[in-house]
Amino acid sequence: MRKVVIAGNWKMFKTQVQAREFLTAFLPKLQDVPQNRAVVLCVPFTDLATVAIQLDGSRAALGAQNVHWEDSGAFTGEIAAPMLTELGVGYVIIGHSERREFFGETDETVNLRLKAAQHHGLIPILCVGETKQEREAGETEARIFAQLDKDLAGVDQSNLIIAYEPIWAIGTGETCDCEEANRVIGLIRSQLTNPEVSIQYGGSVKANNIDDIMAQPEIDGVLVGGASLDPDSFARIVNHR
Ligand code: 13P
Repeated sequence: MRKVVIAGNWKMFKTQVQAREFLTAFLPKLQDVPQNRAVVLCVPFTDLATVAIQLDGSRAALGAQNVHWEDSGAFTGEIAAPMLTELGVGYVIIGHSERREFFGETDETVNLRLKAAQHHGLIPILCVGETKQEREAGETEARIFAQLDKDLAGVDQSNLIIAYEPIWAIGTGETCDCEEANRVIGLIRSQLTNPEVSIQYGGSVKANNIDDIMAQPEIDGVLVGGASLDPDSFARIVNHR
């Protein structure tokens, strides 16, 4: 059975003090989360150590937002997998559209990062999705299939989460229609060799649309940006029906 994975992506938000305040309010709200539901917080690198301490023994797991493919080396500004696993990180977002768009991430580097993450026992959350222009040109499927083809070459599909994040729905409040997200996620699944991979939807997920999103049969969870910064709204998302 596919696991439900609810992940927060804090992006470049929250100092350590703010992270601790969030967790003090958020963690007590996780008491009734069903067993088949993973809760993950993907926080900035500087928050990992302090968040790891507070998450210890809790219902939530720790995630990072990127990882380099080498174990160490002269790569200024990058973070290696052993640095993450030492802190108890279990998940890592790879290939987020903001990395691809603003930091020159390519399908080739995404592929290297995925394999390195898996080699070190991290569960990667691979992000794929089309731009508004590609959608309007009828290129959504071709774009996503091309990303999957290159990103997943040689990647172990038994240790993987995929997030479908249409770029035009990220941070815009313009959520992808639930049925359309369900359709695209079904298409993504049709390209995989392992039908058990959990596939999330991401893009303007909020407390007021989570129930409709999770009612879709192909959608196995969500990757949440803005609404994961507030303990009440993220708790509502995690505790969806
Ligand atoms: P928002 O939920 O803020 O639209 O961000 C989505 C996202 O990029 C999660 O990775």
